[in-house]
Amino acid sequence: MPQHVVNNIGTDVAYAAALLRAGRLVAIPTETVYGLAANGLDADAVLKIYEAKNRPSFNPLILHVGSLEGAEKLVDGFPATARRLAEAFWPGPLTLVLKKKESVPDVVTAGMDTVAIRMPHHPLTLQLLRMLNFPLAAPSANPSGYVSPTSAGHVLQQLGSKVDYVLDGGPCEIGIESTIIKVTPEATILLRPGGLELEKIEQLAGPVQTVASAAPVEAPGMMSTHYAPVKKLILGDIKENLKNFLPQQTGILAFRSPVEAAGVAAQCVLSPAGDLKEAAKNLFSYLRQLDQADITVILAEPVPDIGLGRAINDRLRRAASQHTAA
Ligand code: TXA
Ligand code: MG
Repeated sequence: MPQHVVNNIGTDVAYAAALLRAGRLVAIPTETVYGLAANGLDADAVLKIYEAKNRPSFNPLILHVGSLEGAEKLVDGFPATARRLAEAFWPGPLTLVLKKKESVPDVVTAGMDTVAIRMPHHPLTLQLLRMLNFPLAAPSANPSGYVSPTSAGHVLQQLGSKVDYVLDGGPCEIGIESTIIKVTPEATILLRPGGLELEKIEQLAGPVQTVASAAPVEAPGMMSTHYAPVKKLILGDIKENLKNFLPQQTGILAFRSPVEAAGVAAQCVLSPAGDLKEAAKNLFSYLRQLDQADITVILAEPVPDIGLGRAINDRLRRAASQHTAA
């Protein structure tokens, strides 16, 4: 290990590449959230990801590429709409689900005939991908079911002992996972709202269909409890919900204005300016902070349901549903 690699974390792209070539796990920074990466064409390496995250094997992974040509090698045809989207938004927070080639291992796609692909927008990770002659399979670098990591520190806290190296690219610029779009010759379908606004996609691709988030076949990883913090989270009117709890046991996650609540144990405001970009960037680290605070319940409120607000509300609903599901 080179001298400047301390505690398995650093900015050594060549070292990260060597580990990945050897079938090991490296956490990588992206503009959305940190990923837990392995050689996406090496089934044994990919299996280590599922083990480290304790991820159910039916939940497929995203392949990360450094070029459009790299993506073309993995798919059986690139529909015109997908090409337009890739050309406009890659590198960026957009994942395309397309028909896969035989060569993509089943363990990556959980046996489905489609594969999810994206080109992340982060200088270190792009440099890394362009040094490798294989794509990187990478889910978010959190234990399955927990909030995604938006800093190298988050990764170390939860998976530090399970990754061989954390490539430290600083805090994630966008802070919420990529938007996932499935493109078939017939339709363009939103599988997960995320860091690329639906409005921008529709401007280019025309109307996008949405699937009910419960559709397990379309988005196997979008179980309602995904992204949940461990603490009970209640989504709705904070002042109203506060009546049911002791303030000293309550944490608040407000959108733009702090809620006046005497004695409340902890309060985070996603964006005092009411900026959805800022709110998305803060969401997961505030959820972590509140989850670690000495409280029993988190009261959160929805944000405006436009642009990145759709993705924020989606993650908040999933976090809340852990506690309302029968
Ligand atoms: O921003 C992101 O997308 C981050 C960074 C690391 O790139 N990755 C990420 O991966 O969020 P993950 O595994 O946490 O979420 C990927 C989602 C899962 O819900 C999975 O079910 C879905 O993508 N997915 C993967 N392959 C699919 C496919 N072939 N068809 C439908 N959904 C798929
Ligand atoms: Mg995830």
